Parts: sequence; structure tokens; C-alpha cells
Amino acid sequence: MKELHDLAELTAEQVEDLLALAGRLQKRPEPRALEGKVLALLFMSPSLRTLASFQAAMVRLGGGSFVISPDMSIHGLETRPGIVMDGMAAEHIREAVPVIASYADAIGIRAFAERRSLDHDLADNEFNSMRALCHVPVINMESAINHPCQSLADWKTMDDLAVPRNGGKFVLSWAYHPRALPLAVPAATVHMAAMRGMDVTVLRPDGFELPDVIMDKARSAASAAGGSVTETDDRGAALEGAQIIYAKSWSSTRHYGNRVADEEQRAGLDDWRVDESWFASTQPDCRFMHCLPVRRGVVVTDEILDGPRSVVIQEAQNRMYAQMAVLHQMLAGK
Ligand code: CP
Repeated sequence: MKELHDLAELTAEQVEDLLALAGRLQKRPEPRALEGKVLALLFMSPSLRTLASFQAAMVRLGGGSFVISPDMSIHGLETRPGIVMDGMAAEHIREAVPVIASYADAIGIRAFAERRSLDHDLADNEFNSMRALCHVPVINMESAINHPCQSLADWKTMDDLAVPRNGGKFVLSWAYHPRALPLAVPAATVHMAAMRGMDVTVLRPDGFELPDVIMDKARSAASAAGGSVTETDDRGAALEGAQIIYAKSWSSTRHYGNRVADEEQRAGLDDWRVDESWFASTQPDCRFMHCLPVRRGVVVTDEILDGPRSVVIQEAQNRMYAQMAVLHQMLAGK
């Protein structure tokens, strides 16, 4: 593997190989596999799991990592192209990114969506412009429209739990949140579950439809894997027979970039909070998934998060094993 930007760029066989390697490294650690290797971690946006799990992954494989983020005492970073830098920022990413990459054997980059223009974010402009500045392998640690490392970990989590692939019903449900959140996780998740061959239902209220380009991409993955992708606002029908409820909030796509209109669209939707009643007609062992961080009592009740249905901690732990596999394939023996 040379780079990881989007799970869709991998074949199903490549994903299987990564997951098998992740499982092997979990059981039989290789503490010298990446001896002498360095991973740069550039966080233009906040993180807990991605930051900690990449660092832990490198240590467990015998390598090292360093972190750069605007919150550290670095020079102010300018990201806009073609700008006259007469403001506060002292350094442009056009120099900063290749310099950071030059100290490392691979670089992970996190750059969230601007959330001003849907077309701009769907094109993943920030991530792609930084990726183009690197001469070492690049890992997407969450961009405007993708989160492949989360998807790999979620796929592994379902495999660990023996959640069926073909024929398994996966519900990706919008959940209430007071703020408009990015599309990266829902876009990556619907594709991951489709690529896994599941019957995927995107459950969301009116105004929160996922963009056609995301749905079409997922449908094409589903058709190759023997699954399906549908979208509805009918909660009762969506949840019937579900094996997984994966909750996530995202921006109103009807009013993308318009904070006031988004707030109006989500007003009154605070009952889109997952509680035990959502599991009344699911499979009895239906699991609750979420990428974290999650707002307790807003997105999901404490009862679900703290109960046996929740696998959110396993998902987070699997970030480390999935990323160990990615780093191993990318850097070991090179
Ligand atoms: N799920 C996830 O990416 O978590 P962080 O934002 O904490 O890295």
C-alpha cells in the first residue's frame, strides 16, 4: 500500500488483507517491524482517538511519530492559496507541509470540512491540496468527506462481533446535535457498510439527505459486493431487523453552509436521540455504533452507551489495530 485516502480506492481483497494483518498484529505484536521509521501527524483539526491511536500504533511497531497542530506553539499557518500574507499567519502550508513531510517516512493529515460550500467540501480541496505537497505516503486522518481509518476500524469491529456481511442490515442514522457537523463520517460509513456487502439504510429526517454523489458511490460499492443502499425518513421501517444502528449527526445538506437555516431545519428534531425504544423491532442482538466523540443524552442515552449494545470502545480500540496494519503495509521492510 502506497497511500490511504479513501477505502473506495482499495479492492475488497486489499481490505481483507489489511483486516487479516490487523488481527494478526493484535494477537502477535511485531515490536520491531517499523524500527527507525518516523510518522508525521499533521492535525489541522482537533482529535483524541486519531492522535492517540496513531502514536500508539507507531510505538507498538517500534517506530516513532511527531505531532504538529495549530494549537502548538508553531507559527500561525495560512492555508488559503494565492493570499498576500500581511495578516497574523507567518507561514503558509505550501512550505510547512513539505517541510514536515521531509522529516518522516509517511505523513497523516487531518483537515476538516470548511462547511461553507457543499461542492467545495465534496471535492476535498484542503486535503488534496496538502496531499499534493507531500513526497512521502499520505494517510487521510479525516478530511472534509472521508475517514478511511475509522471505516477500517468499524469494519474490523463488525467482523470481530461476527456481524453478517451479505444479508446483514446496517442502519446509518442521523442523530440530533446542536451544531452542524461534517459529512466525512457518514460518507465514509455508508460506503464501508456497502462495500462490506450489507443492506444499508440511511435513516435521516427531511433536509438531511446525503448528497447524490455519496449515495451513488455507495450504491455502486453495494452492487459489486452483493448488498444494497436505500434512504428513508421512516424510522420504524428502517430499524426493523437491523443488526447495527450506527448513529451520527451531520449538516443539513439542503442548507449546507447556512448556519441559521441549518439550525431552523434541525429545530424540533431532538427526539432523534437513540434510546432503547429504537431497538424494539431490530435483531435482538442489534449493536450500537458511533465513531466518537459523542454527546451523551443528546445523540444517544446513557443507558445505550453504558449497556451491552454499545461497541463504541471496541471501535475506538480497533482504530489502533487497523492503523497498525496500514502502517505495516506502507512502511515495513521499505
Ligand atoms: N473518531 C475519531 O476520529 O475521533 P477523534 O476525532 O477523537 O480523532
